[in-house]
Amino acid sequence: MNFLACLAVLINTFFIIEGNIVIPPSKTSGTEIGLIFVQGAEIPAQNYQKFAIQLQSKFNGKLWIVLTEFPLNTPEPLLVNSVMSSAYDALRKSGFQFDQKTPFFFGAHSLGGIIIQDYLLKNVAQLPFQFSGLVLEGSFITRSNLNKIPPSFPAILTLGGELDGLARLTRMAESFYHNNQDSSLKESITLVVDGMNHFQFIGDGERTPTIVKNDIQPEISDEQARDSITSIINSYMNIRIDRPSQKDITLVNQFIKSTSQLVGPLVDGLDLEGFYHFNTPCSQSKQPNCTQGSQWSQFAQEYMVGLASADINVFNTLRTLVSIPEYFPTISNCSKVSTCILNISTYTQNIYSALDGLDNGLFPIAASEARSKLVSRQAGMEAYFHKKFDFNKTDSESICSQINQEAVNWALKVAPVNTLKRYLDKGKQLVIADDPGSEKTGLQWVYTPLKFEETKNSNNRTIVIVSSPNLRTPSDYAIKSFAGVHYCKLLSPARAVEWIYIDSVKP
Ligand SMILES: *[C@@H]1O[C@H](CO)[C@@H](O)[C@H](O)[C@H]1NC(C)=O
Ligand SMILES: *[C@@H]1O[C@H](CO)[C@@H](O)[C@H](O)[C@H]1NC(C)=O
Ligand SMILES: *[C@@H]1O[C@H](CO)[C@@H](O)[C@H](O)[C@H]1NC(C)=O
Ligand SMILES: *[C@@H]1O[C@H](CO)[C@@H](O)[C@H](O)[C@H]1NC(C)=O
Ligand SMILES: *[C@@H]1O[C@H](CO)[C@@H](O)[C@H](O)[C@H]1NC(C)=O
Repeated sequence: MNFLACLAVLINTFFIIEGNIVIPPSKTSGTEIGLIFVQGAEIPAQNYQKFAIQLQSKFNGKLWIVLTEFPLNTPEPLLVNSVMSSAYDALRKSGFQFDQKTPFFFGAHSLGGIIIQDYLLKNVAQLPFQFSGLVLEGSFITRSNLNKIPPSFPAILTLGGELDGLARLTRMAESFYHNNQDSSLKESITLVVDGMNHFQFIGDGERTPTIVKNDIQPEISDEQARDSITSIINSYMNIRIDRPSQKDITLVNQFIKSTSQLVGPLVDGLDLEGFYHFNTPCSQSKQPNCTQGSQWSQFAQEYMVGLASADINVFNTLRTLVSIPEYFPTISNCSKVSTCILNISTYTQNIYSALDGLDNGLFPIAASEARSKLVSRQAGMEAYFHKKFDFNKTDSESICSQINQEAVNWALKVAPVNTLKRYLDKGKQLVIADDPGSEKTGLQWVYTPLKFEETKNSNNRTIVIVSSPNLRTPSDYAIKSFAGVHYCKLLSPARAVEWIYIDSVKP
């Protein structure tokens, strides 16, 4: 690259040095700060110019911006050190004489956000300026980095779009859950712009094939999106350099409020599911904040037995179901006690997509199914009332599908008005099918997935039919450990609500 090193071309007011676009301050007085911005995959740095210029015009002071450009427009761990060094050089060559006390921010879109957080975690102690903040746009702190952020790291601003089809809103909800959401920005926050998609963080130039394939139709204009994100980032920078106006605080508070209204139902759904990325199941970790069981599976067992919840205590354990020894649900027996509260122990395994490990925001994060080993309605009634019930009457109904319908009903109830309207107007709606017959063996039940089948209804509208493989046996079943069970593949309420928000309207 040496032959390019001294090639500084002045185009309008920009310098292009080694591919980096330096935009000198538009203002001549006030606090002087820097922003280094990293492009998303396949997006030329110049496509972020309108964004950068608008941010600069909002900042009350001298804001230097460098839009860095990686070879082939692909942010890359092996090249990030040299690209960052060339960005610092480019700023100096353009006339910005910063030192260790000069406040500097990093900003990054999409894949750029993943690459830059790794760079900053490694280099936070030797940056040539005062590292004051990091803005991730349509990007987020990865699960593997969450616990690696040192206390010296400045508060991070994670920015999402409601209709971002690449860094989906559920992943922003996960980020939100781990943040403190305090407008003084002592700690990181996650904010989401309503109606905005992934492309609108760029808002200019061609859409990449990945964006065309995955992004959701926005409900605000590119200009509105740009105005919102530049206002938020400007306020964030002012707060971080200790000179916020009342307007900055008010703006951040407004977005904290609208974000919690928007992502609240997603966080609640994940909580009900016992989402493994909030806290690890206690069967896998001894941390004090581990999750014992799934609240939704507790509800499912109450529904299955059909007794008032005051009459039963359900204990659920989240664990791997294919194991030696195998775990079976158990039930206490009311014949031995006068005032009876039936105790039932159940086991659930949440299954996450095979692509979940990539943690790139592109795939559903809620469990694709909750495998729940429940006690049958017959066994519950017999233990409670201490008399015989007919299995063909108690357990032949589609109880698993009724519980799955409850998950959809819950999601419809908690979804914000606008989300619900979008889903009803143009989303692929979830339709719960009756339960298929009982699977023959436990393993067959384990390995038959909760089925999502896309089809058209009588109005020629695309719908998705959900059916729940189940396993049910009468109380007098010959194999004792399997007697009186009714296993369901549950639709997680988080998956239902994630569907309503995102998958139902994703291309
Ligand atoms: C759970 O506890 C562990 C260790 O005590 C901690 O590292 C982790 O951050 C905690 N997780 C949450 C989500 O609070
Ligand atoms: C409950 O107790 C009665 C009497 O001891 C016994 O006959 C019955 O099999 C028990 N039921 C279960 C489910 O253990
Ligand atoms: C259920 O457990 C509670 C305490 O956890 C106990 O008091 C009660 O007797 C148990 N019920 C039965 C039927 O064993
Ligand atoms: C329940 O249904 C099965 C299969 O249809 C049948 O074989 C069995 O005899 C029935 N049991 C009772 C108690 O009616
Ligand atoms: C059903 O909708 C598709 C587009 O979604 C259209 O191509 C097709 O002609 C429609 N069929 C009928 C029978 O209306």
